Amino acid sequence: MVAIHGRVCTSTTMRKAAASILLLVLMEWWCALGGARAEGGGKGGKWELLLNNSGVVAMHMTLTHRNTVIMFDQTSAGPSQYRLRPSGKRCDDRGYEPSCWAHSVEYDIATNTIRPLVIETDTWCSSGAFLGNGTLAQTGGFGNGSRKVRYFNPCSDRRCEWIESEKLLAANRWYATNHILPEEDRVVIVGGLDAFSYEFLPRSSEKEEGAFELPFLRRTRDRMVDKGNNLYPFVHVSSDGNLFIFANRDSILFDYHRHQVVKNFPRIPGDGARNYPSTGSSVMLPLEHEDGFRKVEVMVCGGAVARAPRAAKGGQFLDALSSCGRLVITDENPEWAMEEMPGPRVMNDMLILPTGHILIINGAKQGCAGWQMATTASYNPYLYEPKESLGNRFSVLNSTGIARMYHSSAIVLPDGRILVAGSNPYRLYTFGVAYPTELRVEAFTPYYMGRFFDDKRPWNLSIQCDHGSDGITYGEEFGVWFELERKPADVVEFYAYAPPFATHSLSMNQRMLKLECRSMVRDVSGRTHAVLKAPPSPVVAPSGYYLLTVVNGGIPSKSEWVRFIHE
Ligand SMILES: *[C@@H]1O[C@H](CO)[C@@H](O)[C@H](O)[C@H]1NC(C)=O
Ligand SMILES: *[C@@H]1O[C@H](CO)[C@@H](O)[C@H](O)[C@H]1NC(C)=O
Ligand SMILES: *[C@@H]1O[C@H](CO)[C@@H](O)[C@H](O)[C@H]1NC(C)=O
Ligand SMILES: *[C@@H]1O[C@H](CO)[C@@H](O)[C@H](O)[C@H]1NC(C)=O
Ligand SMILES: *[C@@H]1O[C@H](CO)[C@@H](O)[C@H](O)[C@H]1NC(C)=O
Repeated sequence: MVAIHGRVCTSTTMRKAAASILLLVLMEWWCALGGARAEGGGKGGKWELLLNNSGVVAMHMTLTHRNTVIMFDQTSAGPSQYRLRPSGKRCDDRGYEPSCWAHSVEYDIATNTIRPLVIETDTWCSSGAFLGNGTLAQTGGFGNGSRKVRYFNPCSDRRCEWIESEKLLAANRWYATNHILPEEDRVVIVGGLDAFSYEFLPRSSEKEEGAFELPFLRRTRDRMVDKGNNLYPFVHVSSDGNLFIFANRDSILFDYHRHQVVKNFPRIPGDGARNYPSTGSSVMLPLEHEDGFRKVEVMVCGGAVARAPRAAKGGQFLDALSSCGRLVITDENPEWAMEEMPGPRVMNDMLILPTGHILIINGAKQGCAGWQMATTASYNPYLYEPKESLGNRFSVLNSTGIARMYHSSAIVLPDGRILVAGSNPYRLYTFGVAYPTELRVEAFTPYYMGRFFDDKRPWNLSIQCDHGSDGITYGEEFGVWFELERKPADVVEFYAYAPPFATHSLSMNQRMLKLECRSMVRDVSGRTHAVLKAPPSPVVAPSGYYLLTVVNGGIPSKSEWVRFIHE
């Protein structure tokens, strides 16, 4: 087994040796075409408890290319369940001093252990994105953290720490959304409470650049509800380089170079709203090489009716929205196509699985986001297969026993499992109540990882690239090796996945691309070599680390990291 921990490529010597082996053996050539799905085995999946105590609430959670997961909440939550022992400092049992209580941990997937990280300023309801070099750029929060920029450079020796930058944001960003841009290492930060603007990180040095007004955010607030009710807007980078920005019911296509709205999309049908505190979720369905990665379809699911926040404050928890809408944002005249989930859902995370399907997980059936604003946890994830016919897309999966309410999160791991953590509908760590602070960490293992499918599963995936190079450049062809027990299924697909920064049911920067396979050859022993084409440009796939997966007849391999870089 080739371990690619921290490394992206195998060496060229292996490539040569392997090439000569291939010439000697019987070969079968083919490439992926069409569509197919896994049969049998049941889709329910299973749940496993990984940790009883993560120490801190996983309000924010993200996967690094070192195969660790960064989790953090907020310094203003006071004592966590992970006490630090700083030398030369007296720590108060009820104190808020960030050097006395961890509010961030790094979870190591392979060893199933955590180590504490110190956060100096308050990261409450903040946001983040990975830069092209794999460093997490994390911004904003509350109080002394509201204009902060923090970096985390993932390391393999478990010694890396958060680094707080001296440079401040132009505006307070509490409940903002970040997205990595096609320009190298540039991030856009959109919105936040009372921040009807966006800004860039790093800021352009030529001009005295500050924040840019975004009247759309002012306009989409719901006057019926409290102020600040279209927070954590949904942001996706479309295939034309413009930003899709969605708040509550409305959405625009936005040219951030010219600071202009390019298009106003129709309002999503039906009652209710989709952004905090009416928190639903959104996902950009996988982009595909067949159409040059042009078509972009956004799907928005769940949320709350407009009256829900006010009703919840009065102790009445209204049913969440059960509708989803799909919008092809690249169409000339896009229209929302609506459909129903198997049940109502709010604070639902939406993740793209390695199969290209969507998982809807966490959240509740009644109420909305905020402290003690929801009830009736949603214990069953839903699987959504976007290419099935209407009415056959949703399945209800096996339930967990742990409620994942406000301030919970979920992400996809490189082996195909889903890491589920957090939940804290209280200001402080609070136990012995309904829906208490939740520090248990679970893994949900989807059906495709079941033994039933092992004979289809590609394994021992490794990615070739030239020795000494940092990654794969846009449009370049590159090779992958893997093993297949049997002759491949009719369809073998290759997916590249940008893992999200997850918080508040929002999966910022999540993106999946179905890559083109130029040729594929398998020898009699099952060793298989495929030549893939990297995405054509950073507009389609902003530079950085992606998880590459081979999917054989609907069954995915474990994923390996691949880095797409500018020339
Ligand atoms: C896995 O793949 C690597 C390189 O592609 C190869 O050297 C190694 O023998 C393979 N391992 C197994 C167990 O087949
Ligand atoms: C989950 O679902 C499968 C069917 O897909 C079923 O066989 C299994 O028993 C279920 N329950 C658990 C706890 O895994
Ligand atoms: C969690 O705690 C329970 C009860 O003490 C124990 O039985 C279980 O083994 C623990 N699980 C883990 C993963 O530590
Ligand atoms: C930031 O605020 C927190 C209170 O939330 C306080 O404990 C902490 O010391 C402050 N940090 C700095 C660097 O001032
Ligand atoms: C990645 O780039 C950022 C921004 O330029 C920089 O702060 C960081 O140190 C870099 N990380 C590594 C690992 O070089």
